[in-house]
Amino acid sequence: MNLLITGGAGFIGSNFVDYILKHHPDHRVLVLDRLTYAGGLDNLTEADGNPRYRFIQGDICDRGIDDELVADSDLVINFAAETHVDRSIQAPDVFLRTNILGAQSLLEATKKHKKRFIQISTDEVYGSREEGGFTESDPLNPSSPYAASKAAGDLLTLSYHKTYGLPVMIIRCSNNYGPRQYPEKLLPLFIVKALSGERLPLYGDGLNRREWTYVEDNCRAIELILQKGEDGQIYNISSGIELTNIQIIQEILKLLGKSEDLIEFVPDRPGHDRRYSLSTEKMAGLGWNPLYNLQRGLKMTVSWYLENREWWEKRL
Ligand SMILES: NC(=O)c1ccc[n+]([C@@H]2O[C@H](COP(=O)([O-])OP(=O)(O)OC[C@H]3O[C@@H](n4cnc5c(N)ncnc54)[C@H](O)[C@@H]3O)[C@@H](O)[C@H]2O)c1
Repeated sequence: MNLLITGGAGFIGSNFVDYILKHHPDHRVLVLDRLTYAGGLDNLTEADGNPRYRFIQGDICDRGIDDELVADSDLVINFAAETHVDRSIQAPDVFLRTNILGAQSLLEATKKHKKRFIQISTDEVYGSREEGGFTESDPLNPSSPYAASKAAGDLLTLSYHKTYGLPVMIIRCSNNYGPRQYPEKLLPLFIVKALSGERLPLYGDGLNRREWTYVEDNCRAIELILQKGEDGQIYNISSGIELTNIQIIQEILKLLGKSEDLIEFVPDRPGHDRRYSLSTEKMAGLGWNPLYNLQRGLKMTVSWYLENREWWEKRL
């Protein structure tokens, strides 16, 4: 099997590349990544030198590249995206370009060459809810330009299935955490700020709730969906571990032996969703169970940032 992994130089994509090369000696991996600020070849050092791995720098919005690379692959897994909500509030254009037009360009190439397409998406497309978890058939109600652009990517993906019969699946993940997450996202930002002795800017009252999945569990779930999922279907992935932002920060500070006095409440992000939660019954039906509890996942994550100061210092 030849996998085209777009966005494979980013956080989840690079973890997925390592996972596939390690667990599937019969698979070849081709990474297409534009190497924006969020991507780095230093995320792919484990894959480097492996004869089953190849890297191409390029933009998923480039029809020519998509056409050429999809022709050589059996399956496209689209991790490539602009992903930071705060940036989408400041400058939404690039989010629409990559997350919508880029996805569509890949879909066109996949249709032309009669391949299979997997769209990696997010719990944020459903919007906020006070209680219970969203199922895959719930309507989309995105709040930020980021979430709206991902929702559009999902709808386009489904439209290619319904209109052209393209084999597609959509995977909606909850918050991931683990090694190599860019230090603008909540967890790595607070880890590196705490390590640098800086204040930790926490939005609003800190009581927004999120579900946290360790990235390796997320990769295992994607693998299972590739093996057992059905075309035209959407799958939610989440550990179900739900915490307020302040709770997860307290856990991190405990692990680092730092004082909670570092936390500084700052004005809330506009349109900040209060709570995300996913029903994972469908994944349970495929036989998926997360292996990492919060303690173990956070320990692995914090240790990685402690041991890889050079990686994050050059990203500050
Ligand atoms: N990180 C999370 O917690 C999370 C949660 C739910 C869903 N997701 C989704 O998972 C996917 C991966 O997220 P991530 O956190 O690894 O993101 P990331 O920001 O770490 O990486 C994104 C990668 O995409 C690349 N990229 C951006 N624009 C591109 C373009 N036009 N052409 C080619 N490559 C481009 C970047 O260079 C980078 O390597 C995204 O689709 C995101 O929406 C992430």
